[in-house]
Order: sequence, then C-alpha cells, then structure tokens
Amino acid sequence: MTDTVLVVDFGAQYARLIARRVREAHVYSEIVPASISVDEVRARAPKGIIFSGGPKSVYETPAPSIDPGVYDLGIPILGLCYGAQLMALQLGGTVSRTGQGEYGRTELSLTAASPLSPDWPVSSSVWMSHGDAITEVPKGFVATAKSPGAPVAAMHDTDRRLFGLQFHPEVVHTDRGGEVFDHFLIDVCGCLPEWTHVSIIEQQVAAVRAQVGSDRVLCALSGGVDSAVAAALVHKAVGDQLTCVFVDTGLMRSGEADQVEDTFRRQFKVDLVHVKAADRYFTALAGVTDPERKRKIIGELFIRIFEEVARDLGAGGDGGSGAGADAGGGAPHGDGPRFLVQGTLYPDVIESGSDTAANIKSHHNVGGLPEDLAFDLVEPLRLLFKDEVRAVGEELGLPHEIVWRQPFPGPGLGVRIIGEVTPERAEILRNADAVVVEEIRRAGLYRELWQSFAVLPAVRTVGVMGDGRTYAYPIVIRAVTSDDAMTADWARLPYDLVERIASRIINEVEGVNRVALDVTSKPPGTIEWE
Ligand code: XMP
Repeated sequence: MTDTVLVVDFGAQYARLIARRVREAHVYSEIVPASISVDEVRARAPKGIIFSGGPKSVYETPAPSIDPGVYDLGIPILGLCYGAQLMALQLGGTVSRTGQGEYGRTELSLTAASPLSPDWPVSSSVWMSHGDAITEVPKGFVATAKSPGAPVAAMHDTDRRLFGLQFHPEVVHTDRGGEVFDHFLIDVCGCLPEWTHVSIIEQQVAAVRAQVGSDRVLCALSGGVDSAVAAALVHKAVGDQLTCVFVDTGLMRSGEADQVEDTFRRQFKVDLVHVKAADRYFTALAGVTDPERKRKIIGELFIRIFEEVARDLGAGGDGGSGAGADAGGGAPHGDGPRFLVQGTLYPDVIESGSDTAANIKSHHNVGGLPEDLAFDLVEPLRLLFKDEVRAVGEELGLPHEIVWRQPFPGPGLGVRIIGEVTPERAEILRNADAVVVEEIRRAGLYRELWQSFAVLPAVRTVGVMGDGRTYAYPIVIRAVTSDDAMTADWARLPYDLVERIASRIINEVEGVNRVALDVTSKPPGTIEWE
C-alpha cells in the first residue's frame, strides 16, 4: 500500500500545487474537500495531512472549516496560510486583523528551531499572501518564525506533530520551499518516497490487469499525449487484448497519422485500426461555416465511425452473449471488446468534485455512445497530473514528439479554418502549421509555449509576387503562453523568428500570400479562433 498524504482544499488554487509538490517528493497525494469527515480521514489512513491556503478570512461567514476531530487522530498536520490560521483558531490561539497584510516576497526571520527547516539561515525570502495574522499560538505550540506583518509566521506543537506556516512553501518564490515538504513528509510523517514513475507504471499495470482480466479492450487514439500514454500503459498490462482505433479525420496536424502508425503499430506492435475518414468529414462539413455546427458534425461523425469499428470488432450487447460470428478467432471469450480506455487525468477528477461525478463526466467524454455499446471504462491516468503523464510516457518509451506535443482541440484543423472547411484549405493550413511548428521547435520554444499554430481565415486578399498579382489566403500565427488554458498571453516571439516563419510560409505554401501575427491575449480572445 502506497503511503498517502491528504491535501485539504480550502478553496485556493494552491491545493493542486501542494499536491504536485508532495508528489515531486515521491509521496502520493490526494486532494480532498474541507467537508471530509473524521471517519473518512481515518478510513483513508493517510500518513499526513496538509491544509491548503484559501481566499477567505477565518472570520468570514461562512468560512471553510474542518471537523476539529482531525487534530485528535494522531496524524501529523501541516497548515499553510489559511490552513495555519484555521488550525490556530480551532486549537485556541488568536488570529487578528492586524491591518498589515503581506502580499508577495517577504523577509522571514527564524526565532526558534523547527524540524521543517532544520538548516535554514536565520533570515530567508518567502512568499506571503495574507490579510489576517496569527497573533497568539494555541496552548502547546511555540512560534518559530516571524515576518514584518506576521508575528507568528511559523508555529508547531512537536508532541502532537501539528505545524502551521503563514507563508507558501509550495510556490517557487519561497527559497528552499521544497525542503519544507521533504522534512514534513519524510522526517515528520515517516513516508517512504516510493511514488516514482516506475512505481506508478507498476501499480497501474497491476490495476488494469486486475480490472480487465482476459477481456478485450478498445482505445481511441487521437495523436495527443493522454490517449497515447493511456494506450501504452494498457498495452503493457494486457498486450494484444488491446485494440486501438485511430480515425484520420483529414483535420490532423502534419505527420500525425504517420506518427501514430509508426509508434503504435511498428514500435509497440499494437493491434491498430486506422480509419481513413477524411472524405466523410469533408462531405459532412461541406457548406458549413457556423463554428458550433462544425464542432457538432465533427464530434458526431467521430462517434458514428467509432461505433462502426466497435461493432465490426464484435462489441455491444451485454458482453456475455457473444452474438453473431466470431471473426477474431483468438479472442478470449469470442466476444468483442468490453472495456474502453479513457485518458482522464487527475485534474478532471478533481474538477468534477467527487468520484461519482467524475464517472458521469467520463461517460460523457465517451461521446454519447449508444446504450447497446455500453463499455466499462479503464482510466489508467485517473490519479495523475499532466507532468506525471508525460514522465510515464517517456518511461514507457513513447517518442518525445508525442509526449511533449502541445494541446490540440478535438475538432482539429476544423476550428482553425475560419469559414467552410474544404480539403484544399485543410491542406494549406496543415502545410503552414508545419512551418510554424518546425521553426518554433528550431528556436527552442516549443515546450515553453502552451500552443503555437497557424490559423486560416477563409478570406482572400490581394498581393503581388514576381510579376503577377495574387489573390490568396492569409495565414495567422497564433502563439500563446499559459498554465492551464483558462487565461493566456500572446507570446512575444522574436521578430526574426516571425520573419522566418512568414517568409517560409509565403515561399513554401502554395495558396498563401500574406502572414499576420495574432497579438490577442485570453481574455478577451480565446486561444482558438473558433
Ligand atoms: P480556447 O480556444 O477556449 O481553448 O481558449 C482553450 C483550450 O482548449 C482547447 N480546445 C479544445 N479542446 N475540443 C478540445 O478537445 C475542443 O472543441 C476544443 N476547443 C478548444 C484549445 O486548443 C486550448 O488548449
């Protein structure tokens, strides 16, 4: 059983960051809501608990709180910012509106030794974000640090193994913040640092084997990171019980289909059904310009094609009757696939609020497959953050291009052609996009940009090339930095790079005579143009 640390979410965006920091220290962490009951905490038997910060004041009503019974479980607790103030208040200390909040980089002075920072210098730089401050520690606690606006910037009761820090060790701006987690997790909680990429793979492989048994499994590959890593994991677990389906919509990026073939069929020897469906997509999209209708058409056609493949493979029914002829010959029960792989990640699970809600969302993600094609879901990435998914992908031997690929919308180039989608426009856009990606990679910027791609607004403009007048499409370069796609900033690409991209597109991509740069952030723009 892996050692687990629970991160109690008091409503800050920091909870996720804390959970990731714990995992970086090779200890498994889970985010739980503040409403968790003491019985539930006990049942999960965590080796430690961390209270996150939160946007509220402990004196607001309602302010998030936790059942004070957690302090009596004998489990070490580390309260951060709001979490520290709540701990102080619940255990009989004082939290005051001092009128002297601290926001940003702050000088911390140690006033007594602490097991969380045994070899810190007396003075160091930490990240603060608080209005209220702990002014009196609870009985049994000692204050171990102060700052100009926080008389108690750190406190502990080592007998009960309870710790509170007013600052945020999880943010990079706190000097040596990572060490605080190491000391808490290893020295105080006694966790074994066993959560590694290798152990993640071993655990997930065992879990998939236990879930799937000798049944067959289906996985839709999109060319993106999540489905690729999920497929590779499931393949490691159950080998040729897995069939992957890749639908080439004609709206993929340059080289994407070949990459999927090379990686999965040739390198991993996965049973791959490659459906070449570009013609069907272009026919369905003919004459359609409305962005939402395009999305709907592309999504529904995907479901229809996936359903056809699944039925060809014998999926459907209740999985027990095995109706019809068994063309497979070697399938364990003569049945079609019973399981479907989903690349659901941990942030999706957290966002859906609870495990039950997550299931509803995952089923929804399947894309509304008809009832008689009911699959049981296999979600091998359900516990993982994106950076862990990438590390697992590398460990499994997936190529860098797949593991580090920037996000790509499900409807593909269909939402980057503004106007009607035609084969000609898709080809122009794919070629222009390949130039953008190649040059961005060459400049060493691909990984640091959230996304960088080409957009084709289906209008034509006048130009002049050689002796002749041209009347052709413009291409827009869209490059953004972002952490989570909720907000984004337009990337300040070096001008010489922009120039190189523009001149290569004009010279190499037939049908384009003008290149523009999108300098819109999100908000007010979205990352994609549709
Ligand atoms: P926007 O354009 O809303 O995009 O700023 C935010 C992020 O989501 C991606 N995106 C999509 N992903 N299906 C997807 O799977 C879609 O229909 C879709 N639309 C946008 C987009 O690429 C960006 O990363």
